[in-house]
Amino acid sequence: MNLKAVVFDLDGVITDTAELHYRAWQRLADEEGLPFNRKINERLRGVSRRDSLLVILAGQDETEERIQEMMARKNGYYGVMLDKVTPDYLLPGALELMDDLDEARVPYAIASASKNARTVCELLGIADRLAALVDGYSVKRQKPNPDLFRYAAAKINCPPDQCLVVEDAAAGIAAAIAAGMPALAIGPADRFEGLIGRKDRIARRDDLRHLTLAELQQMGVEDETWVVAQEEFKAASQRHMETVFTIGNGYFASRGSLEEGYPGDHPLSLAHGIFDDVPVSFSELVNLPAWQELELRVDEQPFRLDKGHILHFRRYLNLYQGILRREVRWQSPNGMIVDLSFERFASYAEEHGAGLRVLVTAVNRPCTISLHTGINGHVANDDLLHWHLLDQGQVETGVVWLHSRTRQTSIELAAAAKVESSMETTAVGQQCPGQPSISVGCQLDEGQTLAIDKVVGFTASRDSIPDAADVVDRALQIVHAQSYDELRRAQQEKWAQLWQDCDVIIEGDDEAQLAVRFNLFQLLIAAPQNDDRVSIGAKTLSGLGYRGHVFWDTEIFILPFFIHTKPELARNMLLYRYHTLPGARQKAADNGYEGAQYAWESAATGEEVTPTWVPHFSDRTKMVRIWTGDIQIHISADIAYAIIQYWRTTGDDDFMRDYGVEMILDTARFWASRAELEEGNGQRLYAYRDVIGPDEYHDHIDNNSFTNYLSRWHLQTGMELLEWLKTNHPAKARQLIADLQITDVALSHWLDVIEHTIFLYDAESGLIDQFENFFDLQHVSPEFIAQASRSLQVIFGIEGANERQVLKQADVIMLLCLFHDQFDRRTWQKNWDVYMPKTDHNHGSSLGPSFHAWAACEMERPAEAYEHFMLAALADLRDPRGNARDGIHGASAGGVWQALAFGFAGLHLTEEGYTVEPRLPAHWRRLAFKYYWHGKLQEVDIQAP
Ligand code: BGC
Repeated sequence: MNLKAVVFDLDGVITDTAELHYRAWQRLADEEGLPFNRKINERLRGVSRRDSLLVILAGQDETEERIQEMMARKNGYYGVMLDKVTPDYLLPGALELMDDLDEARVPYAIASASKNARTVCELLGIADRLAALVDGYSVKRQKPNPDLFRYAAAKINCPPDQCLVVEDAAAGIAAAIAAGMPALAIGPADRFEGLIGRKDRIARRDDLRHLTLAELQQMGVEDETWVVAQEEFKAASQRHMETVFTIGNGYFASRGSLEEGYPGDHPLSLAHGIFDDVPVSFSELVNLPAWQELELRVDEQPFRLDKGHILHFRRYLNLYQGILRREVRWQSPNGMIVDLSFERFASYAEEHGAGLRVLVTAVNRPCTISLHTGINGHVANDDLLHWHLLDQGQVETGVVWLHSRTRQTSIELAAAAKVESSMETTAVGQQCPGQPSISVGCQLDEGQTLAIDKVVGFTASRDSIPDAADVVDRALQIVHAQSYDELRRAQQEKWAQLWQDCDVIIEGDDEAQLAVRFNLFQLLIAAPQNDDRVSIGAKTLSGLGYRGHVFWDTEIFILPFFIHTKPELARNMLLYRYHTLPGARQKAADNGYEGAQYAWESAATGEEVTPTWVPHFSDRTKMVRIWTGDIQIHISADIAYAIIQYWRTTGDDDFMRDYGVEMILDTARFWASRAELEEGNGQRLYAYRDVIGPDEYHDHIDNNSFTNYLSRWHLQTGMELLEWLKTNHPAKARQLIADLQITDVALSHWLDVIEHTIFLYDAESGLIDQFENFFDLQHVSPEFIAQASRSLQVIFGIEGANERQVLKQADVIMLLCLFHDQFDRRTWQKNWDVYMPKTDHNHGSSLGPSFHAWAACEMERPAEAYEHFMLAALADLRDPRGNARDGIHGASAGGVWQALAFGFAGLHLTEEGYTVEPRLPAHWRRLAFKYYWHGKLQEVDIQAP
């Protein structure tokens, strides 16, 4: 951060009049017979005179008259002592620091709650050098409210977030945080407990002694490994940044669009499970009524970034806290300057709740402010309307609600909002149909701040809440239950807890560290906390890409992170697959197979929702047939793979008994019936023809090695599990055998398929053919592939890519990773050498790079691994594919964790548990993370030698 100015508190920072205050209070307390000592005095730091007295009175009832008299008496004692103040009362280091600031032309101000601040500054001899002096008369709301510091920042004409507060009181530090200002806390660490260390921009020191300007500059800098920041607003990248600044809590998420709107923006909030029907894609998540929108007028001029002038802009997502913030200094077209802060979060502690805080400070002259916000039901998915607006209302001034229902799926949703203002404002409820809202208006004097807090509640008829009261009542309960500050505090606590188990520490590479945390954050906000009928879609809840549908991305890429760090959430998402078994059974039956065949794209029910035709990516007059829903069959085995990984890591036998076995056995039935027996030349073989493997540049292929290997493994695993069930839970085994018709004949067929499924592996060279006749396709030079500026499918066309040896992602390499113990070194080497140069690393699938990084680690090529790793880690932050605007690449984010854990740390599951085999990039000094193994938290901490 570029530090432009400093605001000092007075007492305890610049001078020691704190001691004089103490003595004055002591005298008053003694006269009144009230207990008082230095410990109680600690609580008076940064607190106004009146509040200090209330602390000393400790609840003792007094008339207003007596309170006034006591305050005056104390002030009298203080005034007498004050006369003795001279420049000698400046605390060590204060004068030197001011000299340095003067020399560097950094303006500074005093901001004190004391009404005697001016007199004290004059006596200290510093009044004339201050850029501003603000005191107890300046604002109404004292610390910990943000008003005083923002007032000071306005007076020295500095955007609050570029202005450092130096404060010795906890209340003052809280005020700085609320004001969006960096701070230096002066005093012992325990005084600021619970405030410092939460990744706010707060440094601490015992005093100002020997503090250099360079150190001071550093104090405005936050822990960059926890904060994703945008320093300049660019309209061209706004949709990308909306994705990056998505916030959420596992129930719903909202993209980071600007509260006031901007031409071409794409505001969107999605909640798990709230799907509605749609042409072509069958089913899509529905854009929720907008809660973060507002209309702000400054002297009648609407605030928008495309109007007036942006004098300062900074937006940042504090990943540690799950809080998104924006600081803007804006000049309206008629010259009025305001400092604006927007803060919002989706509460992880109360998943039905969210908060939005807006601060408006008048900088250069008084102005009128009007702010209009509520719940806007007039939202659509692109241009498709999904809501029937049922009813709306206002409960009391400041609280409104909207009740709506999806048009086809009849899911009811209630959204409620409570708006509170810091000033005597005129709040008026507005009842435009479908858009209940509240208007707040006030007059701001120069330097004054209006703070608006909005608490929002969302509840839906599909929520699994035991007491299924009316959705509207429940939404209203949410907004009534907590204040913005309470919700915010709980948010910070919850996220601190989450990170305790889920964080991955990388030392020696801040860019990678931040990118990793960003990816994990995006996964955490997408994972359902309390709902096992939903799962994470390919684009999480952050965009309309893939319409919220769930792919294999979840099981193979995303789930391992949760299995190892939040197994209860992984369980929820595996149960989603259990609940969607009826859809999978239907799909198998529709296709003429036995058992259950999972949908390639799945939504609420598990029926196949992959669109069959979509417009051609470059020629909109043509349609492209999408075959993945028909023939990309490996998903059923991918789900089985995740179930086994979950079971082996958690030891959750109950889950396996009640759900896991059934899913694996019924999908095994599908594999057994899908295999085609081919006999001839004395051979008896099973083939899987006409499929698509993970590499989607090739469709209608035969015997894709990834698919065939997984099918064989799946059937084998099914047989072993059945034995386990028979031994440990015979009744359940009997029931499943009967329900799924797993006869002896069926089992001997499974065995036959296991033994005779084609796997195109050349034992001599170790080469695994990606699929039958892959090497007969046209060769493309590795240089051409490496230098391609667009996707090879765009360059060659869909058919052209099909005819060439170019890969969207290397599926043989993926196979080696998933079953790495099963393949020898020669096989690894051979396939690495063959497939990596054929792969479209830059423009192919975003799912590839994380696994390529993992594979490179297995090949002991950490430098190469690092390159692939960063491609994955920056897939959304840097947007190399140019499609992050559609939503977060969830699979890539999940793969990042696997590349770290399984790749760089070499965490490998064995019969006894895990082993670690580190192979860090040369510049990493440390890689540390935690994971659960059979319910016990384990720590991996690798320090470079
Ligand atoms: C990838 C698939 C992936 C899907 C959703 C496609 O581009 O090739 O593997 O499942 O995107 O992320």
